Amino acid sequence: MVSKTVKGKDSYDLELADEKDLERLAGMHQKAFKGLFSSDMGKGFLKGLYKNIIYSDAGVCYAVRDPNTKKVVGFIAGTSNEKNLLPTSFKIKSVYNLLLAVLRNPRTFTNVLRYIKKTRISSGINTRAELISIALEEEYQGKGLGSELVKTLEAWLRAEGIEKYKVFTDTKYSKGHILYEKIDFRLEKKFDLFGIENRCYVKKL
Ligand SMILES: CC(C)(COP(=O)(O)OP(=O)(O)OC[C@H]1O[C@@H](n2cnc3c(N)ncnc32)[C@H](O)[C@@H]1OP(=O)(O)O)[C@@H](O)C(=O)NCCC(=O)NCCS
Repeated sequence: MVSKTVKGKDSYDLELADEKDLERLAGMHQKAFKGLFSSDMGKGFLKGLYKNIIYSDAGVCYAVRDPNTKKVVGFIAGTSNEKNLLPTSFKIKSVYNLLLAVLRNPRTFTNVLRYIKKTRISSGINTRAELISIALEEEYQGKGLGSELVKTLEAWLRAEGIEKYKVFTDTKYSKGHILYEKIDFRLEKKFDLFGIENRCYVKKL
């Protein structure tokens, strides 16, 4: 575990997430990424997704904990190789989750199309390393924790021999692009996903 002092005063604990954090990670994901395909898929899917990221050799997830309450208040997830991240068994199970999600809410279908198009564009970017997700509870934003989480992910990526990595963000549901532009990501591509502007940023390590 590493203790980070941010913006000169508060100190927070950054550590690898583990299985007991899955409920919190899924909950924070759903709250931060409302309206996105992954959130439509439900909490069970998200718990499975983060479990696979935590246990995959090609994945990592760091959690930030409030040292007073010990509660997880933010996280970052990433991969050194998106192709090796998720086992086929999980992908097959996800198709079932997907059908249920579309039946529950037909709007999800458009999000599925968005996800497919984004995946196609992602495979054309010449790195398989990716910042998958980053989120902080609202009252913990703006304290420098997002930047610290990114630095922690970058240290892991460097140790894995990665020289550059990508991140996708939309400008409708997320303010991620403001953070990425502040910390030296380069805008690689802007594209429309059925009415929502998406961006891919790349950063050299
Ligand atoms: C995006 C997010 C992770 C940023 O984390 P954070 O801890 O608030 O960011 P930091 O405090 O490290 O900010 C770093 C810089 O980016 C700027 N910044 C970050 N988020 C910003 C926002 N929402 N609005 C305006 N500026 C922002 C800060 O002003 C800061 O610049 P400064 O150093 O000149 O003051 C956080 O706001 C969040 O969880 N948002 C909801 C989920 C989300 O959108 N995730 C991104 C998915 S792609």
